[in-house]
Amino acid sequence: MDPLLAWRKEFPILGHTTYMISHSLGAMPQRAADRVREFTDTWATRGIRAWAEGWWEMPVTVGNLIGSIIGAGDCEVVMHQNVSICQSLVTSCLDWSGRRNKLVTEGLNFPSNDYVYHGLERIGARVVTVPSPDGITLPLDPLLAAIDEETLLVSVSHVAFRSSYVQDLAAIVKRAHEMGAMVIADLYQSAGTVPVNVRDLQVDFATGGSVKWLCGGPGAGYLYVRRDLWDSLQPAATGWMAHEEPFAFEAGPIRYAGDAFRFLNGTPNVPAMYAARSGYEIINEIGVPAIREKSKRQTARLVALADDAGIPVRTCRDPERRGGVVTFDVPNAKEVTQELIRREILVDYRPKAGIRVAPHFYTADEELDSTVAAIRELALAAR
Ligand SMILES: Cc1ncc(COP(=O)(O)O)c(C=O)c1O
Repeated sequence: MDPLLAWRKEFPILGHTTYMISHSLGAMPQRAADRVREFTDTWATRGIRAWAEGWWEMPVTVGNLIGSIIGAGDCEVVMHQNVSICQSLVTSCLDWSGRRNKLVTEGLNFPSNDYVYHGLERIGARVVTVPSPDGITLPLDPLLAAIDEETLLVSVSHVAFRSSYVQDLAAIVKRAHEMGAMVIADLYQSAGTVPVNVRDLQVDFATGGSVKWLCGGPGAGYLYVRRDLWDSLQPAATGWMAHEEPFAFEAGPIRYAGDAFRFLNGTPNVPAMYAARSGYEIINEIGVPAIREKSKRQTARLVALADDAGIPVRTCRDPERRGGVVTFDVPNAKEVTQELIRREILVDYRPKAGIRVAPHFYTADEELDSTVAAIRELALAAR
């Protein structure tokens, strides 16, 4: 008996689809609809008073629900709209004009992060990308070797979006700190499925979003900044919520808030935070270790089923280095994906990867079997 299957009834879409796409959009908990209703009711009945009755503080109160998933302390996580904004905000705190101007990133990082980094070249940054030799893994040694005394920031995805490869964050942080550099970890593909503890790891910055494993829907990203760095960081990408006294409406340069509000900008995405909370609460209730244990078992089963079917996988075979996704490399992956979706088996396709299949805590073993059987049938038919 799999106790986590008791959660299935909370996710309406599981009643009529085989939902294998939580790496892209986690299923909506029914409670999220109630929460969105709560938002509109509050807006309708409390009007402007809602700001003082909770809306203003939401970037931090909702951030606390993320904090307990990623190991941050109380009031150390703030909510933003997405990772791209958080990356821009963090990099805007740093001085790229000096000799220490290197930004070390890696070939499995999410492209949106790269776009932000290359934009910094205009203000002096040198972006060094350590390539992945196979599009699946990222060997540690070349990454560590690229981090030197001219490195200001190291950026890695904890778990790679394309191959689900799990990076050794502890080793990366250790090397970066030895060299006097800081680390920003993109936790989007780990938080909620692979345990991560930002304080134990001593990462300087961490960011991620809610669309995927956290089942929180779009518009709710998060940012963690190591507390002892707060006073030294002055984001150039900022806004009035980050002001020490926002309602003084002072003109001229900002005086930053002393708390995590200094990492906010303008008006927050209140409805998205209402929607996202239910997913975070459920993940907190289950606990990531239990989710990871099941995920490792189910991804191992997917790999075994792929082997039986003679389908290559473009995912790490070492369970400790594999996140929540198994990628099936069939030649006509795009067309097979379209047909799977037509049959209500929800997966996706990524170029240079293949068909990405992701069970989550609500997935039944039989769904793994039927998904691989369908991929096999369609791949064979197209030969
Ligand atoms: C690792 C990772 N980072 C970032 C993103 C997206 O970032 P944003 O929140 O800016 O859309 C994704 C997926 O969409 C991702 O998988």
